[in-house]
Amino acid sequence: MNTLVDDAKQHGSAVGLSVDRITINGGKPLQGRIELKGAKNLVTKAMVAAILGDTPSVLKDVPNISDVRIVRGLLEVHGVTVTEGEEDELILDPSAVETAHMADIDAHAGSSRIPILFCGPLLHRLGEAFIPDLGGCRIGDRPIDYHLEVLRNFGAIVEKLPSGIRMSAPNGLHGAKVSLPYPSVGATEQVLLTAVLADGITELSGAAIEPEIMDLVNILQKMGAIITVDTDRVIRIEGVDKLDGYTHRALFDRNEAASWAAAALATEGDVFVGGARQAEMLTFLNVYRKVGGAFEIHEDGIRFYHPGGELKPVIIETDVHPGFMTDWQQPLVVALTKAKGVSIVHETVYEQRFGFVDALVEMGASIDVHKECLGGRPCRFGQRNFQHSAVISGPTQLHGADIEVPDLRGGFSHLIAALTAEGRSTVSNVGIIARGYENFITKLELLGADFELEG
Ligand code: EPU
Repeated sequence: MNTLVDDAKQHGSAVGLSVDRITINGGKPLQGRIELKGAKNLVTKAMVAAILGDTPSVLKDVPNISDVRIVRGLLEVHGVTVTEGEEDELILDPSAVETAHMADIDAHAGSSRIPILFCGPLLHRLGEAFIPDLGGCRIGDRPIDYHLEVLRNFGAIVEKLPSGIRMSAPNGLHGAKVSLPYPSVGATEQVLLTAVLADGITELSGAAIEPEIMDLVNILQKMGAIITVDTDRVIRIEGVDKLDGYTHRALFDRNEAASWAAAALATEGDVFVGGARQAEMLTFLNVYRKVGGAFEIHEDGIRFYHPGGELKPVIIETDVHPGFMTDWQQPLVVALTKAKGVSIVHETVYEQRFGFVDALVEMGASIDVHKECLGGRPCRFGQRNFQHSAVISGPTQLHGADIEVPDLRGGFSHLIAALTAEGRSTVSNVGIIARGYENFITKLELLGADFELEG
């Protein structure tokens, strides 16, 4: 069976989504209000951090997405008791943490890359950790070399086995001087989750400083860690002997906020995104305004809308924070098909994040992808045959088509494309969207989309 289809079904069923396909009658503006919960890219890491505590942790605003289900399953196979508290709250009790079998880890990990982040905490608690082959969205090679190097720096012994990787730390983990070749989000989290209980001081240079990472730092500080964040991508961690559990309300999901904002613009709609905040979205908001979108900042969220008039083309380069996030480009590209003129999106974080545009082209968009670094500065993918710059000429009117979700963010952009298109579109493999968008079907309904679900 096609593994993408399998993957979609697995993600969908994890959150009770029993359908694979949505048929959308496009052309209706999205209008109304939706509420965000905690960020996928923080919540899943915060759940792992609970392993480090001597007492239970309480995480609030946990979204019902399949990535959370996967991490929950992984925690449970490692002996962590996970219970649901009051509304959207998870209580994570790590007092009986134990080694899990590779087969169980593999079965629970599915296509997730999260198991790699279990390594530091498990090495501290148990002296060993296993990780299966890792998946994640198909948006490039997504190697784990930085992670393995980081763990070796702390003193871990890494052995490659036919079924995955085994790590051990017979002499414990020790603070280290670590320098990342690229400010990787995951590798920075790896350093944080490992250094907090390592013996001595760790100095990380070239760190990623995304708001989700800063919220993880907040959580670790609540647990008892000592972490200093400098202005030059240097993070210093003084290892401590023990950490307690935390109680924390997760940072809102700014990637989801940007996705609904793009949907409001592309459909000429008006969507109030409850829980969205300005500070973490400054860069997105600037671009939204330049394209011709309008927004109002409120205390309890942000209203995103199309104010009328023509949309304008832009040149964007995705980058690490505080740049324009890679996860924002796919939904926004759909709105750019409606802008008058030529837009350029230069993707500098993942080498293959334009797979989703084939479907847009089939629907009538004019998008060419190039291997050159278009739009400004050269990036690490230039001269390497990766189609990582997109040129979008508009305005074009999209028409309905049968399309298949390729990955999480690309999938959401397909939904937006179908919502803006003239006529009917069938979007299949929508289960993948459940990896990171909570209740997206209910939200579409709330916003007045015209669609039917198919099994
Ligand atoms: N990289 C390596 N070696 C490594 C690790 C990363 O070469 O060992 C490269 C990657 O291949 C990529 C770049 O470094 O080209 C950046 O990757 P990073 O490690 O920053 O990404 P990640 O931690 O795997 C997280 C989010 C992504 C988000 C990126 C960038 C999670 C679970 N995932 O991925 O989110 O796009 O940071 O901000 O936090 C999504 O939500 O759809 C998603 C893909």
